[in-house]
Amino acid sequence: MNLHGKHIVLGMTGGIAAYKVCELARRLQDEGATVQAVMSRAAQEFVTATTMQALTGRPVFTDQWSTEGGRVDNAMPHIDITRVADAIVVAPASAHFLARVANGMADDLLSTLVLARRCPLLAAPAMNVEMWNNPATQRNVATLRADGITLLGPADGDQACGETGSGRMLEPHELLEDLVAFFQPKLLAGKRVLITAGPTFEPIDPVRGITNLSSGKMGFAIARAAREAGADVTLVAGPTMLPTPRGVARIDVQSAQQMHDAVMQHAATSQVFIAVAAVADWRVTHAAPTKIKKGSGTPTLHLEANPDILATVAHMNNAPLCVGFAAETNDVEQHGTAKRHSKNIPLLVANLAQDAFGSDDNELLLIDALGTTVLKRASKLAQARRLIADIARRLP
Ligand code: CTP
Repeated sequence: MNLHGKHIVLGMTGGIAAYKVCELARRLQDEGATVQAVMSRAAQEFVTATTMQALTGRPVFTDQWSTEGGRVDNAMPHIDITRVADAIVVAPASAHFLARVANGMADDLLSTLVLARRCPLLAAPAMNVEMWNNPATQRNVATLRADGITLLGPADGDQACGETGSGRMLEPHELLEDLVAFFQPKLLAGKRVLITAGPTFEPIDPVRGITNLSSGKMGFAIARAAREAGADVTLVAGPTMLPTPRGVARIDVQSAQQMHDAVMQHAATSQVFIAVAAVADWRVTHAAPTKIKKGSGTPTLHLEANPDILATVAHMNNAPLCVGFAAETNDVEQHGTAKRHSKNIPLLVANLAQDAFGSDDNELLLIDALGTTVLKRASKLAQARRLIADIARRLP
């Protein structure tokens, strides 16, 4: 549960995207948050307060003159509602709402509690493309950013009005991922992190190839955790169906050689390189240009070595901090220690192949010059965050 113990004030203003915020309210609670909905009058034209009460299990606050929402009956809900909140998330945030907040106006409960807040404010704009592009809105957005308010989105795409462009509210799962990231410590702010993930695929002919059972989940989790920690992340991914973590630049490759070439384009400008991919050690020397037919007899495959991406980066002048992975079927610590030496890297992360490939959680051994630290079995995302914290401590 990524938001365990967090109390979120979920502000809603007028916009058709309000229907998606019903889903967001549920997803926030799935992640362990408690949610207090506060709705403007316009928001209630799209979704009723009864709907939000049913979804959050709490009365919804709508009226600045009501005495509800105060810790004591002091008729000050605009103060008290946010004093127990970890963040206010306004979704959808209309153009009018952004304008009022940018100008410090407080003429209903939501805008008043936003002005009186001590906690962070995040807003998910949702409006027509012309409203978003209007210089007045853009001025307001610049003011909000300068005031330290976090804007989530908007996205580009088809709009409810039939037009297309920027101004779409982010989808609930995207808002959730951004909010979870918001609460993570920014241990890698300003750093560039390069990551390889997934298997590679070495073609035999146009329809067949040599690959392995790596799912890419660990590498993708590390990319997400690095981005949550504030890094600028490039993820070089072998063939996998996994969705790209938010805010991560992804480069899809197939073969080890392609992965090597993509990595070498970014290695010199990265401060950290984490090689999580299960890279094929060999490739077929001459992949057939057309499909090999059964009738032509059993083929003989000639193999040649692929470049060792991690070792190449580790031997660069001004190499980034290099972290390797080892998936072993036995004697994990012993093999991991030997591999750390042979690759000439400060940190190697070892795990059991049969335990790790494809699963959602695993146990990791962090092996460095001082010895081995066990990261006890947990979800790959939790392990990724621990690893990122460990890597951040090693940076100058
Ligand atoms: N690696 C790499 N390029 C390769 C092979 C591996 O960057 N051509 C990286 C992996 O991403 C991982 C580490 O090196 O971080 C794994 O080391 P490696 O010696 O390749 O492991 P195995 O292939 O498992 O070695 P062995 O088969 O000897 O166990």
